[in-house]
Amino acid sequence: MCYKYITLASTLCITPHQAYICNMFLQTLLQATEKAALHMKLHFEKPFAVHNKEGVNNLVTEVDTACEAIILNTIQSAFPQHAILTEEAGSLVQDSAYKWIIDPIDGTVNFAHGIPICCVSIGLEHNGSMVLGAVYNPFLNEFFVAEKGKGATLNQKPIQVSQKQLLLESCLVTGFPYTYLDMPNGPLQVFEKLIKKGIPVRRLGSAAIDLCYVAAGRFDGFYEHKLQAWDSAAGFLMVTEAGGTVTDFEGKPYSVYQPHLLATNGIIHTHLQAVINGAEV
Ligand code: IPD
Ligand code: CA
Ligand code: CA
Repeated sequence: MCYKYITLASTLCITPHQAYICNMFLQTLLQATEKAALHMKLHFEKPFAVHNKEGVNNLVTEVDTACEAIILNTIQSAFPQHAILTEEAGSLVQDSAYKWIIDPIDGTVNFAHGIPICCVSIGLEHNGSMVLGAVYNPFLNEFFVAEKGKGATLNQKPIQVSQKQLLLESCLVTGFPYTYLDMPNGPLQVFEKLIKKGIPVRRLGSAAIDLCYVAAGRFDGFYEHKLQAWDSAAGFLMVTEAGGTVTDFEGKPYSVYQPHLLATNGIIHTHLQAVINGAEV
């Protein structure tokens, strides 16, 4: 997909100079996301080197590393002073109000198995708030973009969360961590309660796509017990800008720096939150 770069300034901006800088943020974000995603697509179902991280199935392929290099090169050429948090290379701490949070491939296990449910996901944080996010799945040609205060789009068309009223009639999605969490109200217990009531709970294998699908109204809710900042940075903004609600499991405003994420259309939020915390459906 050749993304037509948006020329509107972000709401962060006041002066024409600031507007110009904000356009640069957005264009850099879109370019980095698109270039890396096209690289990922080019290497799909081709041979690549792969190794494990902490768990035997927590994979990193040479394509993850190459996508990350493409993203870093694009961002650092434009904004060498900005801080960066990226999954494979770690943190670049800089004294900057801006931090780029990067997942070079979200859905690596899918990618490595030839399952085209994977994406590039990049968020930009300003003074601790997420202000821009982009998620691109090149296999479906779906490019999601969110700008703080300006809404969320799919292929440049505005998206909204669903209007589903009842948890019992909802379609949900979740993810499971690479290592089993043996705890009360853990991933399996919550999953069991929901599916015993006949509620469809999908598991796509890409948290960034899960969040975008909530933003687009395809799913009514998504929860996961253990995520990292790069999994959720862009998708979190996508859901809030599409009119949804994102919190931790206690209902507090979501921070990407803690593991629990609950994202819904807002209407089913407290009901699903109660179930996650031990209530029956
Ligand atoms: C994973 C995916 C998956 C989620 C895991 C993440 P990765 O990210 O988002 O859906 O369940 O918790 O770690 O490893 O493919 O970048
Ligand atoms: Ca991820
Ligand atoms: Ca990843």
